[in-house]
Amino acid sequence: MDKREELRRRQARIEAMGGPKRIERQHEMGKWTARERIQYLLDDDTFEEIGAHVTHRGTRFGMADVDAPADGVVTGYGRIHGRPVYVFAQDFTVLGGSLGEMHAAKICRVQDLAMKSGVPIIGLNDSGGARIQEGVDALNGYGEIFKRNTWASGVIPQITVIMGPSAGGAVYSPALTDVIVMVRHTAQMFITGPQVIQTVTGETVTAEALGGADTHLKRSGVAHLIADSDVEALDLVRKILSYLPANWMEEPPVAESGDPLGRSDVALATIVPDDPNKPYDVVGIIESVVDDRNFFPLQKGYADNLVVGLGRIGGRPVGIVANQPRVLAGTLDINASDKLARFVRFMDAFNIPLITLVDTPGYLPGTSQEYGGIIRHGAKVLYAYAEATVPKVTLILRKAYGGAYLAMCSRSLGADLVLAWPSAEIAVMGPDGAANIIFRRDIESSENPARTKAEKAEEYRQLFANPYVAASRGYIDDVIDPETTRAHLARALMILYNKHDERPKRHHGNIPV
Ligand code: HXC
Repeated sequence: MDKREELRRRQARIEAMGGPKRIERQHEMGKWTARERIQYLLDDDTFEEIGAHVTHRGTRFGMADVDAPADGVVTGYGRIHGRPVYVFAQDFTVLGGSLGEMHAAKICRVQDLAMKSGVPIIGLNDSGGARIQEGVDALNGYGEIFKRNTWASGVIPQITVIMGPSAGGAVYSPALTDVIVMVRHTAQMFITGPQVIQTVTGETVTAEALGGADTHLKRSGVAHLIADSDVEALDLVRKILSYLPANWMEEPPVAESGDPLGRSDVALATIVPDDPNKPYDVVGIIESVVDDRNFFPLQKGYADNLVVGLGRIGGRPVGIVANQPRVLAGTLDINASDKLARFVRFMDAFNIPLITLVDTPGYLPGTSQEYGGIIRHGAKVLYAYAEATVPKVTLILRKAYGGAYLAMCSRSLGADLVLAWPSAEIAVMGPDGAANIIFRRDIESSENPARTKAEKAEEYRQLFANPYVAASRGYIDDVIDPETTRAHLARALMILYNKHDERPKRHHGNIPV
């Protein structure tokens, strides 16, 4: 046979992956094949495959005769928005996308190349897990991948899309990456599946309820984004990457917009209600300050008392953290602390400045919080902010009480600039609580305790519940007119753009986990 013809024959066999029947079944399940997914994800005609001819070396359980094109995973590189990326995509049509020795070696190969070239890596997961026929060789393959995920953490962006099953220890490679996107109804992640759970604990649960996209977005906090289809999920990957640099030594990409930096917004003058107990939607403020009102939230649906996400100001990406007064009054709890700390570390790893919008009455009280370890989880927030060396700008909108004032990127924790609206209230605790403690005797001995308490609370409010005491000590750099917030934030970021900050040399810190 002509040698070029042989090459073409081999290529055609590899292209066909699991064959028409299995591909048809994949489509019936609402899923694309690995090759279809890669083609959609990358810029047109940019995909270069690596290791297409690799196949398994199994001989047991009838494997010697099994033809597994590309060993069930398509690997290579290409471009997104014109910028290079590495990619691997498991193909469920070949041995259920199961991970054997050579399948793992192919993933490790692109992980190594991505690290060496300082380029993001994207994993599209759709797999029955460890290839049962290969036993410990498959397990070893997972270990090699986890190790590389860990080494790559904070060096290059690692994005995972779960587009099918992800069971057992296989969930841990995704969990070690920066962002997990899940596809609703077709993606499921769990350590032990419904059958094992039924046998061991007697609980009955469906795979979807146990590990579907909504479960992991809203309950476990494992997923950062969910999509309704393969297309939507892959679009989200392209969007995330538009905010991220190729690696930790580069600056994030700039996307100029025509939105004037000095654009003022009268709506901000009245967005915070006079009544301190009235909620409002902090997302309105975020949208008002970012370019073209374009805000991209992460983990929306999980710990919604805190909002985190990406936007741009003057074309440059910024990470935004904000208490959400509409949910649990914007208190900080265990889940919000985890969400906040991880986001701050993600931004800091990739040179994205942080803006923190503060309106929180404090930590959520309760035995479930204390027993659940709010001390340990809350400490992550302090650690993450104090550790971060990117520009950090804090804006106090309304309440900043006690420990939560400190935690939300206060001056003492390392904020570079702290601004406040005139509605800001900075105190050790809320006026009612404060009056109850320091004026307890006056209140108890009063003929009208309720009135005395209200008067004393007002006295306390007049004294401390404003930004000026903190500003007089220099803890707040300026009190600004809310209408002009975008301009102030833009200028603050501009002056901090070349900020250089270092932490002491060490192996690594010991963040409370
Ligand atoms: C080898 C596998 C496989 C596996 C699926 N297949 N999983 N082959 N090893 N782990 C094969 C099937 O034999 C079948 O081959 C094809 O893939 C499609 O699978 P189906 O069962 O027909 O598909 P479906 O009905 O959609 O069910 C998908 C599934 C199921 C839920 C994923 O296949 C399943 O339960 N698989 C086993 C999952 C599992 O227990 N994996 C090990 C987890 S433990 P044919 O030739 O018929 O098309 C683990 C440890 C990792 O992963 C530890 C890391 C530290």
